[in-house]
Amino acid sequence: MPTVPAYSITTDAIAAEQERSGTNPADIDVSKVLQLDELELRPLGPGDVRLRILAVSAEHNIDHATTADTINIADTRGGKMYPGNSATGEVIEVGANVTRFAVGDVVITHCNGGPDEYGFPTRIWAYDAEDSIGWYAKEAVVGDWQIIKAPLDCGLNLWEIAALPLRAPTAYHLWRRAIGIYRIKVPYERRARINVLGFGGGVSELFLMLAKSEGHRAFFCSGSPERRAALEKQGIEGIDQKAFNRFASRDDVRAFTKECRGRTDGEMMHAVCDMMRGPVFAAGLACTARQAVNVSAGWQLSQKVDYNSTLMSVKQVTIDHTHYETPEGCAAATELYGSVFKPTIHREIYGWADLPRAHQEMHLNTQTGIPIVRVADDMPETVKDLVG
Ligand SMILES: NC(=O)c1ccc[n+]([C@@H]2O[C@H](COP(=O)([O-])OP(=O)(O)OC[C@H]3O[C@@H](n4cnc5c(N)ncnc54)[C@H](OP(=O)(O)O)[C@@H]3O)[C@@H](O)[C@H]2O)c1
Repeated sequence: MPTVPAYSITTDAIAAEQERSGTNPADIDVSKVLQLDELELRPLGPGDVRLRILAVSAEHNIDHATTADTINIADTRGGKMYPGNSATGEVIEVGANVTRFAVGDVVITHCNGGPDEYGFPTRIWAYDAEDSIGWYAKEAVVGDWQIIKAPLDCGLNLWEIAALPLRAPTAYHLWRRAIGIYRIKVPYERRARINVLGFGGGVSELFLMLAKSEGHRAFFCSGSPERRAALEKQGIEGIDQKAFNRFASRDDVRAFTKECRGRTDGEMMHAVCDMMRGPVFAAGLACTARQAVNVSAGWQLSQKVDYNSTLMSVKQVTIDHTHYETPEGCAAATELYGSVFKPTIHREIYGWADLPRAHQEMHLNTQTGIPIVRVADDMPETVKDLVG
């Protein structure tokens, strides 16, 4: 079978970088762990599609994989994994039974790695799904159930489209859970417009775009002035997280709570998207209104949370944990590209050789938006107007 250039993460590379940098995951140089490799593509089955990858986004799960800060997922995967679970590609070959896609289609992937009986993932593709091969590669073979036609006429450019395949379904699922749970407790006729808060990051900003599009008041608490400014243009109010020292102490959380009270005329936040946990979790709970919902699909700063159950019961606050969408939900989220989802993109579009640097800069948190890597030099005619 043909081999294609692809990035991999190995336990040897992680160990070598840990040896060099010490055991603190923050000190790891991610670009040294994410290494260019070769990948043998599996033969095209009857339900498969072969893709030429056009662009990918840098995703935070690669940070977790390269630093082994949650689990050493490369080790769990047998010592080596091929990462990358968000891609935009061109169909270059279809299996005998594939009817929904044709050669020349531009598609996006989703990373549901194996649905449970309700359609939700038990595993994530190119992370913990067994034998799953990621898409930080020049080409890929995927099952046709893993791709969705890219909405090329949605008003977004190719880089903006490439920012969304993983983050938009996550945000879409978080939002329908947050508002659904809230509405069980507080029906529309008792309160139509709610206050919605999100902390940092690409998923949260998309969550807030959904809230805003449905008429709610949305607040983005982030340390990045560029990202806050981009969202303010969409009517989403910015709160500078660094003004509260990223909630390092209880006094910082108190000051943040006071800020939220002031901005909401004492009402506080009815829905909160966390994604970070760690110190962000305490701040997210402290600023909740009665009957509020706190959702998260991430644990970037900590896997453990601690809260006062009595207090949350008395306020009837729901703490909800989510993971990722169903394949149908991923398709529904894609319908909202351009009309609702208008992502902020990092100012540099990285080249293929710069993919490790893109992840190191994500690790250092110096980017001004979602980082995109251009994989194909030659773009298909259908997207030439979308690459600028
Ligand atoms: N379950 C899922 O399906 C799923 C899907 C997507 C993401 N996730 C997880 O969710 C988390 C966020 O993902 P994302 O894609 O939204 O992230 P992202 O776009 O890569 O952004 C991460 C954000 O974290 C914030 N941040 C960094 N260091 C911080 C600190 N010390 N304190 C507070 N905030 C800090 C930064 O925001 P500011 O500097 O602007 O404050 C940064 O923009 C990651 O852990 C990721 O793995 C899970």
